[in-house]
Amino acid sequence: MKYQFPDNFWWGSASSAPQTEGETLGFGKTATIWDRWFKEQPTRFHNGVGPAETSTFYKNWKEDIALLKALNHNTFRTSISWARLIPEGCGTVNHEAVTFYNQVIDELLAQGIKPFINLFHFDMPMVMQQQGGWENRDVVTAYAEFASKCFELFGDRVKHWFTFNEPVVPVEGGYLYDFHYPNVVDFKRAATVAYHTMIAHSLAVKAYHERNDGGEIGIILNLTPSYPRSQNPADVKAANIADLMFNRSFLDPALRGEYPQELVALLKEHGQLPVCQPEDKALLAAGVVDLLGINYYQPRRIKCRDSLVNPDSPFMPEWFFEAYEMPGRKMNPYRGWEIYEQGIYDILTNLRENYGNPNCYISENGMGVENEQRFDENGQIQDDYRIDFVRDHLKWLHKGISEGSNCLGYHMWTFIDNWSWCNAYKNRYGFVSLNLETQQRTIKKSGEWYRTTAAENGFND
Ligand code: NOJ
Repeated sequence: MKYQFPDNFWWGSASSAPQTEGETLGFGKTATIWDRWFKEQPTRFHNGVGPAETSTFYKNWKEDIALLKALNHNTFRTSISWARLIPEGCGTVNHEAVTFYNQVIDELLAQGIKPFINLFHFDMPMVMQQQGGWENRDVVTAYAEFASKCFELFGDRVKHWFTFNEPVVPVEGGYLYDFHYPNVVDFKRAATVAYHTMIAHSLAVKAYHERNDGGEIGIILNLTPSYPRSQNPADVKAANIADLMFNRSFLDPALRGEYPQELVALLKEHGQLPVCQPEDKALLAAGVVDLLGINYYQPRRIKCRDSLVNPDSPFMPEWFFEAYEMPGRKMNPYRGWEIYEQGIYDILTNLRENYGNPNCYISENGMGVENEQRFDENGQIQDDYRIDFVRDHLKWLHKGISEGSNCLGYHMWTFIDNWSWCNAYKNRYGFVSLNLETQQRTIKKSGEWYRTTAAENGFND
């Protein structure tokens, strides 16, 4: 069967400034929370590899954009580093950064690749974190100023903007489960961070819309469909709460301009509601996006709790549900994540049925593989497993589109193997492999496949 995608479908890939640029403290850039954390606790990072070890996009941008072109990309996402553009968090702009991002944007456009620019990819400038990070409303204001500065500097050419990538991750990682700086475990503080992130998002969306630049602004959410173990009311309720906390706490404000009442009631009942300002309701309503980016990797399998929660234990999402390993689920053999291709279709169906079928695209999907540096006699990585992964997800995406979903494109995570936070280079995702010592790039078999798929706007299977 031929899986043909709509005309002008976006074929591309996604990356981020902190994972690719390098020059973490060079050319006027100041430290982010990653630079600080690595300095304080290098052992928290896989093999002690920190944020400075990248594919050095800051220097190799031209060569890498040529490679994107060779892979038939018509779109590409990266981010602008706040700590590079405005090193003190607010105030003076770093002109070396402006030159760098101008060059990248201009070169992408010259190669026929639309730049998709995200404004925050987990990389809080350390100066802002020292003021309390997202817990401090002043940081929210500083972020909105940074966003406006980006629109002003680059908005004549960039027509696809995103306020945040996976805003739930700094909340989970930094304030609930200790896998991001500042390593706090406290639900109330996590809720405040999540809330302020969406206020910051709304301020940026409002500012962008007021400019009338003729482009679109969105947010990128990692959506994890929550499937209950059974249709028993207790399991269904547990999955619903997981959905409210991890998906709808961002999805609803982004698409409906307000929080789900069920979530507000739940947090209120447990004394976990963040402090709101009188202007917030109107602000959130102004934060409705033009375009939703969906990062999809794996679903959540949820059951009700087997044992009662100790009411004296600190409030956590797990008071209401437990994750379980569904028997027979398909696993990525190279990394412990479930593979469930239909999840992508279920997300699209949910958006169509419950959120007015917004314009959206798959902003990330991909397969992390451990110990992948195995080259064949021709010097290529034969990652057929990644081709299967992408193709099988695209089939479900195709079905969603054929049923009417407004899904405009697909971006693979990622282009070149990159530094992935605490996991560093443990799991490689690229369709171009990176030799960290020599900086040599080699297209994997999946890259060749993607090149043809993009050129033909689909594939046969
Ligand atoms: C999502 C994030 O956006 C990205 O930064 C990360 O490296 C990938 N997932 C892979 O885990």
